[in-house]
Amino acid sequence: MAKAPVIAVVGSASMDLTCYADVLPQAGQTLYGNLFTTGFGGKGANQAVMAALAGANVYMVGSVGNDLFGKSLQENFRNQNINSEFVKVSELPTGVAHIWVDAQGQNRILIVPGANHGFDENHAASAITAIPDLSIVIGQCEIPQSVTIAAFTVAKKRGAITILNPAPYQELSDDLLAVTDWLIPNEIEFEEFVGEAPTSETLARFRTGKNSIVTLGDKGAVLISPDGTLTSIATTSVQAIDSTGAGDCFIGSFSYSLASGSDAKSAAEFACRIAAVSVTRKGAQSSYPTTAEISTLS
Ligand code: RIB
Repeated sequence: MAKAPVIAVVGSASMDLTCYADVLPQAGQTLYGNLFTTGFGGKGANQAVMAALAGANVYMVGSVGNDLFGKSLQENFRNQNINSEFVKVSELPTGVAHIWVDAQGQNRILIVPGANHGFDENHAASAITAIPDLSIVIGQCEIPQSVTIAAFTVAKKRGAITILNPAPYQELSDDLLAVTDWLIPNEIEFEEFVGEAPTSETLARFRTGKNSIVTLGDKGAVLISPDGTLTSIATTSVQAIDSTGAGDCFIGSFSYSLASGSDAKSAAEFACRIAAVSVTRKGAQSSYPTTAEISTLS
């Protein structure tokens, strides 16, 4: 059996507090919802869990608070076979995400980062230095960019591939782009990045000098080579009930597949199949297919 690829995720871990409702309230309005759940989330932790479910040997680098949510997130890492020796316990409270999901399965998310901003460049760089046999390092934008830059800089020196999911969107520094190999925004982040919605013209103009993928929800994804060549990736048609964490599901499964030796197109096709399953279930990590289910989707 091939050795599991080693993937490190440098990023956020949060508790998701989610309300489901047919209609979401306007400012000043009070409405009834249908369901409230607490679930494991944070874009970084979601990506880590997905990569581990797919079969990677995953290290989480991040921070949680010294509180009930933090203990619960730590226990979840252990249950998901994720190495959490580089998850620091911070003085700050554990990060939370308040999520509203409407009847169409679309979400609105407000994050309060808390402890996700409670670890620094030195912590991230020394963790990435210490992890053996590293293939890929994944980052997002729920922690300070300077911390991701520190982690990616060490990763590049070690010959690992770096994958940046610019979510939630914020202006990316040149220093971060310089140490990023793969840039993977969703359609909203793409629009915020370039100022125009994704079309074949705007996608072909998206030349960052790196490999990119733009995920397009029920329209699949588009691979963009450094010279602007587009490759469309179709996805399975499903009845979506909750898109929360679907982008993270794509990133975690794409990273696993790429680290296992697949070419980018096959890895993106695999990731689309897995992410399509996730939108048919509620929650972020709670919506991801099990390892047994994934074996039927490979
Ligand atoms: O991408 C989905 C995630 O975004 C949620 O799990 C929530 O924690 C927010 O960070």
